[in-house]
Amino acid sequence: MREYFDETIDRNLTFSYKWDERKKFFDSDEVLPMWVADMDFRSPKPVVDALINRAQHGVYGYSSSTNSYDEAVVGWLEQRHHWKIKREWLSYSPGVMPTIGFLIACLTEPGDKVVLQSPVYYPFFDVIKRSGRKIVDNALVLEDNTYKMDLDKLETQLDSSVKMLLLCSPHNPVGRVWTKDELTRLGEICLKHNIIIVADEIHGDLVFKQSKHIPLASISEELAQQTITCIAPSKTFNIAGLQASSVIISNADLRLKFRKEISRYSLNMMNTFGRVAAEVSYRQGGEWLDHCLEYIYDNNQYVKQYVETNMPLIKVIQSEGTYLVWLDCRDLKMSGQELREFMLKKAKVALSDGFIFGENGDGFTRMNIGCPREVLAEGLERIKSAYIKTFE
Ligand SMILES: Cc1ncc(COP(=O)(O)O)c(C=O)c1O
Repeated sequence: MREYFDETIDRNLTFSYKWDERKKFFDSDEVLPMWVADMDFRSPKPVVDALINRAQHGVYGYSSSTNSYDEAVVGWLEQRHHWKIKREWLSYSPGVMPTIGFLIACLTEPGDKVVLQSPVYYPFFDVIKRSGRKIVDNALVLEDNTYKMDLDKLETQLDSSVKMLLLCSPHNPVGRVWTKDELTRLGEICLKHNIIIVADEIHGDLVFKQSKHIPLASISEELAQQTITCIAPSKTFNIAGLQASSVIISNADLRLKFRKEISRYSLNMMNTFGRVAAEVSYRQGGEWLDHCLEYIYDNNQYVKQYVETNMPLIKVIQSEGTYLVWLDCRDLKMSGQELREFMLKKAKVALSDGFIFGENGDGFTRMNIGCPREVLAEGLERIKSAYIKTFE
């Protein structure tokens, strides 16, 4: 099945944010886009076929919420993550970020504090700030080329105005798949201080064989009562543009508050195509995903080897999942802005600047490796040529 992922598909002029907005964001149509977190692969064939079939029907009225969709989600979580949830815990949302915004709005008050763990997916900062809440940054610590949570520090950062923690699991951009021990300890601290945990597990299916994703809420009943889990087929099956995600809340009180909030915006009805794609992905996409993960893992190893051999001043941070690679470029001795210019102007690749993920992301950059090997090799070649001209 490697050919499926090896195929280079032209995404230009498909309203692709990653490809078609290069001119706007980077002032160039020539940079190779390795930034936005979607993949350049075609989704599983059954998904493509189901969408074509639905499109051919020709009538696209409002879609109903159906048991079969919920059952597909429940089945996926049980099969893939050994997590048994009840159908009634599920709510639908058009996206994980909208969900987090709604949760902050309905479960905290203006002026309350929300914890995040930088470097982290940058919209976390924006959603907290824009909601008029304050950020508490429990920054991750980099040790031996891998990141760890600083839970001793977290204990010292909490007071009664801290109401919520945003967990990114697995973690974007550093690629950690948190262990049961780490999650259990984090959970204990949040339980002790009565902090609601929003577990963003959007990358939860994208984990390499050597590691295992543990849904935080599956660890204990007590933790489940204080955790809200956001999942989506969007990253997993490359259907982010179809805007379908799920929210799992076993605590009836929290669930009611969330549902009321989302209903205020009349966003509780699924997009017809999103619904079809999500259900078919969960029911028939498992085999595709296994192959996709092998491909991404090989790409990850390729980057590691290529960078070690050709660009020794750059370090590839050890990752256990996701199609994002976090590159430590601090030994290039450039400011974040200079590193950006170097990648864009000299190497002609568009990466995600490390500094947008938090101050401690300065000197790093994030590369999206969810692309055919040929494209990845081209991106690395470009960086290598610029590196040789500048540093050798
Ligand atoms: C950790 C994380 N959360 C949320 C999102 C966005 O999710 P959605 O498109 O469902 O809002 C992303 C996308 O890259 C992400 O990496």
